[in-house]
Amino acid sequence: MKFFIDTANLAQIKEANELGILDGVTTNPSLMAKEGIKGEEAVRNHYKTICELVNGDISAEVISTDFNGIVEEGKSLAAIHPNIVVKVPMIKDGVKALKWFTDNGIKTNCTLVFSAGQAILAAKAGATYVSPFVGRIDDGNWDGMELVGQIAQIYSLQGFKTQILAASIRSSLHIVRAAELGADVCTCPLEPILGLLKHPLTDIGLAKFLEDAKKMKQ
Ligand code: E4P
Repeated sequence: MKFFIDTANLAQIKEANELGILDGVTTNPSLMAKEGIKGEEAVRNHYKTICELVNGDISAEVISTDFNGIVEEGKSLAAIHPNIVVKVPMIKDGVKALKWFTDNGIKTNCTLVFSAGQAILAAKAGATYVSPFVGRIDDGNWDGMELVGQIAQIYSLQGFKTQILAASIRSSLHIVRAAELGADVCTCPLEPILGLLKHPLTDIGLAKFLEDAKKMKQ
């Protein structure tokens, strides 16, 4: 399973990248706005900086909602760097645009996916990635991971090539569950990634080893 970080914060992207386990980055307009990125040029420069920091797929989201607008915006985003993946919302014109990008060799991430039916449409349109929003489904008292498993089963049965990108991941346990269910990618903030490191027995064991190591000196 690939690890993407879900942020536009450069310090966090660098920290995850330095761990050596980062395969890409996902952003969205909310995450960009949170970093105070304003204006088209600043947005493009920010994506370029991320692409130069991380050697992997970098999702940049369109804000147009009509076919022509999505295609024009996506072409322009894709021209920033070869690693840009155009993030397209799961709406009718989005599906048409996904197919256009597929036919024109531009990688895509179909975002805001909340049902298996939507995931089937994304795959039929040839999306590179499909993003089921696990945490937001959990927020509504449903089990978001159930959807990841359902999509994995359908894609495997049908031979769809679209990669399942488990998104809206909120905890380290979510990451483990996504891996168990066969997600191809997991995208989340830095904290759940660092949370995977934690185990009290590791800390206790290491403290004991270091203490005993002192006895070996002299
Ligand atoms: C996915 O690509 C989205 O950017 C993201 O995972 C949304 O997560 P949230 O529900 O925590 O905002």
